[in-house]
Amino acid sequence: MTSAEIRQSFLDFFQKHGHTIVKSSPLLPESPGLLFTNAGMNQFVPIFLGERSPDVSRWGDRVLAPAKDTRASDTQKCIRAGGKHNDLEDVGFDTYHHTMFEMLGNWSFGDYFKRESLEWGWELITKVWGIPAKRLFATVYSPNKDKGDPSDFDQEAYDIWAGIFTRAGLDPKVHIVYGNKKDNFWMMGDTGPCGPCSEIHFNLLPSDDEAAGRKLVNAGSPRCIEIWNHVFIQFNANADGSFSPLAAKHVDTGMGFERVAGIYATTGGFKNFSADPSNYNADVFAPLFRQVAQLSGKTYQGTVPTKREGLSEQENIDVAFRVLADHARCVSCAIADGILPGNEGRNYVIRRILRRGILYGKKLGLRTGFFEQLVAPVVESLGRVFPELQQQQDIVRRVIRSEEDSFGHTLDRGLAIFNKAAATGAITGAAAFELYDTYGFPLDMTQLLATERGLTVDTEGFEAAMEKQRERARAAQKKEVIVAATEGDASASYEATVFTGYLIDTDNAVEAVVTDVVPSGDDTFLVFDRTPFYAEMGGQAGDTGTAVVAGQTIAIVDCVKDKAGRHLHKVDAAAKAQLAGATLRGAKARLSIDLARRRAISRHHSAAHLIHWALRKTLGTHVRQAGTSKTPERMRFDFSHFEALTPDQLHQIERMVNEKVIDNAKVQCYETEFDKKPADTLAFFGDKYGRIVRVVDMGGYSRELCGGTHVSTTGEIGLIKIVAEMAIAAGTRRIEAVAGTAAYDFIAQREAALAAVNARLNAGPQDVMQKLESVLAHTKELEKQLKAFQQKAAAGLADDLAGKAVEKDGLKFVSAVVSVENPEALRSLGAQVLGKLGEGVVKLGADFGEKASVAAFCSPAAIKSGHQAGKIIQELCVKLGGKGGGKPDFAMGGGKDVAKLAEVLK
Ligand code: ALA
Repeated sequence: MTSAEIRQSFLDFFQKHGHTIVKSSPLLPESPGLLFTNAGMNQFVPIFLGERSPDVSRWGDRVLAPAKDTRASDTQKCIRAGGKHNDLEDVGFDTYHHTMFEMLGNWSFGDYFKRESLEWGWELITKVWGIPAKRLFATVYSPNKDKGDPSDFDQEAYDIWAGIFTRAGLDPKVHIVYGNKKDNFWMMGDTGPCGPCSEIHFNLLPSDDEAAGRKLVNAGSPRCIEIWNHVFIQFNANADGSFSPLAAKHVDTGMGFERVAGIYATTGGFKNFSADPSNYNADVFAPLFRQVAQLSGKTYQGTVPTKREGLSEQENIDVAFRVLADHARCVSCAIADGILPGNEGRNYVIRRILRRGILYGKKLGLRTGFFEQLVAPVVESLGRVFPELQQQQDIVRRVIRSEEDSFGHTLDRGLAIFNKAAATGAITGAAAFELYDTYGFPLDMTQLLATERGLTVDTEGFEAAMEKQRERARAAQKKEVIVAATEGDASASYEATVFTGYLIDTDNAVEAVVTDVVPSGDDTFLVFDRTPFYAEMGGQAGDTGTAVVAGQTIAIVDCVKDKAGRHLHKVDAAAKAQLAGATLRGAKARLSIDLARRRAISRHHSAAHLIHWALRKTLGTHVRQAGTSKTPERMRFDFSHFEALTPDQLHQIERMVNEKVIDNAKVQCYETEFDKKPADTLAFFGDKYGRIVRVVDMGGYSRELCGGTHVSTTGEIGLIKIVAEMAIAAGTRRIEAVAGTAAYDFIAQREAALAAVNARLNAGPQDVMQKLESVLAHTKELEKQLKAFQQKAAAGLADDLAGKAVEKDGLKFVSAVVSVENPEALRSLGAQVLGKLGEGVVKLGADFGEKASVAAFCSPAAIKSGHQAGKIIQELCVKLGGKGGGKPDFAMGGGKDVAKLAEVLK
């Protein structure tokens, strides 16, 4: 079988057993709290938790072959390079760990349980694929049985396995191995569905001796590895560390596809076990190895080092081949799924992996720019299974190219800095931080380089330096600190304020009750039980307006939220004085917001959604919001993208959004359960959403999870004008735009400016360009003439000065205050004068208003007889109250005492 056939036969087997075959979910996880999709079960979490009933056959275009709703099977792209499961360090140094791998899996949602799962599993691998039963071992959850406590022993799984092995004529006592919590209780992350598991391990020793194989189970040997995990999902791990039983029992299995394919390839179909096993023997890696060999001119020989330092030349080559093959797959698939290399979180992990790859490429002598050439072989081997790779191929290549370019600039200098630091015998935290901060070396890359030399990195020192930098960044960013709790109160006991402000048009004056007065720093905040004031959130500015309390009108100048969800209404300075000492708790209040201002903010917020939509349509779905702000004056939208937008792209985006404005589509905002939101709703991954979320749907084409306020039809936006596009970090761009009256004002201002230009040029809109061109041409001509004139004048001045030279001891001396444009002109004049003198000394000074400049020149004969331009200038400058110096033949300087210039030069 080829790798593709192995994959297909797995899916066919489970399809035959009633499983719906679904697509791999993207690497960008759908479960909050995960860095990457790390297991096949991630996309089924809501079903496991009972938040969604099993409905896999109705998952629309995610379904490849529908069958039962309670059974699913697929091959899932997984990344285990950060978070709970992290294999990055081992990649390249062994033959069976990857950053990205495919997990073949089958699932039961409250349907079959342990017996079918294990029996079918056994049938597939021994009967269909022909893996020799004698080489297989099963682990069973049993953390304390050896210690005489059988209470948490998985008796059911044990009995099933005992039956299976006995039928195969094998001794269950030899083939079943007990496992502890670390090995046999599977968790997705710190929270989420989990349960005891049973793993199948494969003895890859040359001999099928059972005792020898058994000894290697869970011993970290490449000669006996886990190939398939069967998890019996029964609990949810809660954030507080407790476990809640789930309403139903589920099965979640995961098979390491590359492992099985690698063993199959190495052993000629599970027959000949003499060679060293390696996942990299599987044909999915072949196009990558071919490409690396061709680019580097080196040959892969499959050696595996036993240590991390002092590797032989071939071992270094082979590690690099494996690293490149692995990392190219991971980085390509991540980018195709919208995870671009960046500065934070999962984006930084991808950047690290890419940089680690670039470093290993360098070891093979590959030049900057090579990594991009690994994308084609990734697409060749995986493009059919994961069509998004094919579709996004171009973007993937461009993103990698731009990353590689920017890292390529600093890599060599960084390596030089590393070598210098390494020569001292240890890498200090400061050195590691400099490498990180200035040269873009991720910490683990520095550690890798250090390990190769048998050195260590002071990671604590590095962390301390990082923390200092974070503090600096925080200090620079934080404009206002809100202290939520008043004395004696625990903020947790506060009730969140009821927000009534989504429908302000019909109900802006809200009757409320003051629940608290919160002083914080220099400010005072009022809290009410309910409010129409939007509190700053999601980049949308807080509302302003008034509160009438006990007959007094209080100006509210901002509104923010505290941790408990209370809206804190900031009062202006005058009101603050009024409030001092007053007891307001329980007082009735009438609240109204500044409606015109709120409408302007809402227009900018809706405009931001439209621009987001248009960016994704124009540039690709890798575009993701990276930060945003909406005020009455303008909106800002930061997003992931790897290069500047062209004027054409900006124009197209502006046109698209304005067409949508003119369409005047309805904007619908509604609440729904997170898992019931429409499939194409944009959510900000990594953000924690509650069970109930708010969807903002504009005309059915733009859907986002959003708590902000919006226009009710797109036409209300009026007009959207993009005013700026710029880079704000590597891989992150910003668009600024204005909408509604702000857009009108912007255009009116531009138009006024243009009208003023027209008037000044005495031209109309049609001929203004022509007039301008002729003015510019005329200016150019005048500049040319002026320059010629100045040169002539300078030559005349040089003649004059040379004519006034004083002669002494065969040398000619000139000293004068002259009037020239700038220091550069002073220098060239002096040079001309000396040229005319032949042998001699020239000292010139010029008054430039705030500052006087002096220049000195000495000919060779003058220098021989002891004159030095540098010394002359030094002395002159001291007298002028400044500094200066230079070489013996020429020097310049200056000082502030302009008035002394003439006297000093005498
Ligand atoms: N979710 C299980 C694993 O990843 C199958 O091992």
